[in-house]
Amino acid sequence: MAWFDNYQKVKNKKFFTICDDNKPIGFMGFSNISKANKNADLFIAIGEDDYRGKGNGKIAMEWIIDYGFNKLKLHKINLGVIKDNAGAVKLYRSLGFVTEGKMKDEIFHNGKYYDFLTMALFEKKK
Ligand SMILES: CC(C)(COP(=O)(O)OP(=O)(O)OC[C@H]1O[C@@H](n2cnc3c(N)ncnc32)[C@H](O)[C@@H]1OP(=O)(O)O)[C@@H](O)C(=O)NCCC(=O)NCCS
Repeated sequence: MAWFDNYQKVKNKKFFTICDDNKPIGFMGFSNISKANKNADLFIAIGEDDYRGKGNGKIAMEWIIDYGFNKLKLHKINLGVIKDNAGAVKLYRSLGFVTEGKMKDEIFHNGKYYDFLTMALFEKKK
């Protein structure tokens, strides 16, 4: 597939499928990977409802954070999340992400405005 071949050639993105045994249950990855600034934007979603809240997101996040710091040699991992997404915010905090900014009324969904948090995790000092 041409679009997939082209996607794989793009150097500033990394995309992974999250699987339970062989069943795809979600995806995650990095976009805007900056070699110069040593940072990237992380995204994750467990797509299958039945697989949420069972520890899959946490395991996947730990794996991709390790990949970001140790394989991509990042200094800082950024992500964005709707402030009301309490489960996701709790997970990110538990992994060490700190809130760097709050964008008021950034997301408009189903007739309502939501605040958006930018969060970051820094490489551990050696
Ligand atoms: C956010 C998401 C990736 C978390 O993955 P998950 O597999 O559901 O989460 P886990 O089961 O690994 O939970 C890990 C921790 O997250 C927190 N958490 C997850 N879902 C939660 C919920 N609904 N309510 C409260 N805490 C929650 C808990 O702190 C949990 O730790 P615990 O085991 O000590 O309770 C997943 O639910 C998801 O994809 N949701 C929809 C899309 C989305 O919101 N993506 C994030 C956009 S930034």
